[in-house]
Amino acid sequence: MKHVSVIGSGTMGNGIAHVFAQNNFQVTLVDIHQAQLEKAIQTISKNLDRQLAKGSITADQKKETLDRISLEADIITGVKDAELVVEAVTENAEVKLKIFKQLDEAVSDHCILATNTSSISITKIASVTKRPRSVIGMHFMNPVPVMKLVEIINGYATSKETTSSIVELTKQIGKIPCVVNDYPGFVANRILMPMINEAVYTLYEGVAGVEEIDTVMRLGMAHPMGPLQLADFIGLDVCHSILEVLHSGFGNPKYAPCPLLTNMVTAGNLGVKSGEGFYVYKVGSKDLLISERFK
Ligand SMILES: NC(=O)c1ccc[n+]([C@@H]2O[C@H](COP(=O)([O-])OP(=O)(O)OC[C@H]3O[C@@H](n4cnc5c(N)ncnc54)[C@H](O)[C@@H]3O)[C@@H](O)[C@H]2O)c1
Repeated sequence: MKHVSVIGSGTMGNGIAHVFAQNNFQVTLVDIHQAQLEKAIQTISKNLDRQLAKGSITADQKKETLDRISLEADIITGVKDAELVVEAVTENAEVKLKIFKQLDEAVSDHCILATNTSSISITKIASVTKRPRSVIGMHFMNPVPVMKLVEIINGYATSKETTSSIVELTKQIGKIPCVVNDYPGFVANRILMPMINEAVYTLYEGVAGVEEIDTVMRLGMAHPMGPLQLADFIGLDVCHSILEVLHSGFGNPKYAPCPLLTNMVTAGNLGVKSGEGFYVYKVGSKDLLISERFK
């Protein structure tokens, strides 16, 4: 494979484009919002500067990586040369199903269609295409240029050939593939989200405060950050919607989001992206300040 199209140039899409381009793929980055595309290329350039400062790439490699990325606002034009499409648009089933129908019509017969969804069924996404054997989950982790794992998710109909090409490709871009099957939350979020939800319950029930909960998990379990800080980083709305997928997918009340998490999302306290969650995030400040509400 030489040409990859990435649909959606937000947090994940720009990282995915960065990694493929850095590993010699021609990349077309597609987004419906021109401003997002411009922001994405600036982010990629800044992240490459960080790698340059660390000495992990040269100035020539930075330039070559940027030169391999083209930006496109029209999805049909953006995928015409693609041998692989990685979809990384907003986590909304309706939007993704519509895009996969369009992609199926627009790409060549041999093109593989991958989705970076955190929780939506790969089998369901594949079912709206005429190529369910060539549809697969490629769940990159955030931040993409840094995190090694790609959780590869086989839909019910994904062929062995599709899985083995994607496993090889994942290794080619310097990542470590881990193949799992398509059930709610796959592996990563099925295990991570109940832990985050339990941390929110521990706070809600007054067992301990924000700082104590995160400190126990950081120092006691050697997690790089506590579960409440991680939830803020992921986005509390994203955590809430993944818990809803687990709850409805398994029909098991143990996955129901904690009422405190629901309240915070309803109030618009979504974590880092809204400026406040369990902690407060001030532009230009690196201090981790606990939200007044939890003091
Ligand atoms: N953020 C994370 O930590 C994370 C981690 C792993 C997986 N994911 C998954 O990755 C996907 C993207 O998440 P994100 O955090 O990058 O979202 P984001 O909101 O940062 O970016 C989504 C982008 O999709 C674009 N978009 C929306 N509709 C589109 C369309 N019809 N055509 C083209 N572009 C469109 C938006 O303009 C936006 O730029 C989601 O499925 C999410 O679940 C996110």
